[in-house]
Amino acid sequence: MTAPVVTIDGPSGSGKGTTARLTAAMLGFHLLDSGAIYRILGLAALDRGVDLQDAHALCALAAGLELAFPYDQHTTQIELDGRNIAGSLRNQDVADAASQVAVHPEVREALMSLQRSQVKAPGLVGDGRDLGTVVFPDATLKIFLDASAAVRADRRYLELIESGQTVERSAILRDLEIRDIRDRTRTVAPLVAADDAYVIDSSEKTPADVLAVVRDLCRAKGLMQ
Ligand code: C5P
Repeated sequence: MTAPVVTIDGPSGSGKGTTARLTAAMLGFHLLDSGAIYRILGLAALDRGVDLQDAHALCALAAGLELAFPYDQHTTQIELDGRNIAGSLRNQDVADAASQVAVHPEVREALMSLQRSQVKAPGLVGDGRDLGTVVFPDATLKIFLDASAAVRADRRYLELIESGQTVERSAILRDLEIRDIRDRTRTVAPLVAADDAYVIDSSEKTPADVLAVVRDLCRAKGLMQ
């Protein structure tokens, strides 16, 4: 590996996105939001009427997409067919479509090199489901963030309300549990902590608490002073 990689995997609402952003800023590393890749493909499939069960058609769609992700910018501007889709990516139906397209091994394989190509000096912090287990098995530091389903649903609910969406908390919890089961039980690259990952339960922790733990781990790995 040319530059150090820190992977932060975990379920939806565990705080991995926030932790990845803060960690990347702390280390001065690039950032890879791998979930955005699956969401973009899910959104493109919904937009173009591609069957979410049809792995072959999804791979063709992935190959034809203009996948230029400004990962390491703080305001993510992602265009699909000339339309800014950054706002739509966080919608529930897109999250659900992302988790359906992510089930197919061929689709995961098709998106692998795109993720690996993001490793650049001085280093990369990536968040996702299988970054420590499959995409970057030799990562310098692997973290697995978890939290109870109730806490994760509350976080997702607040995030969606704050972004102006009208949602029911009970529907969020139900969607999150369905997505969890799909992510944890799929045959290829299921959501699971790598053997050498540090597991952090964020249920009772603020983002600053989690970052303090990550900071100690980064120091222990020689990633910072
Ligand atoms: O992390 P985020 O909620 O944006 O991911 C959306 C969906 O994409 C997840 O539910 C999961 O099914 C899929 N995903 C994945 N592998 C990744 C990142 C996301 O399967 N590395």
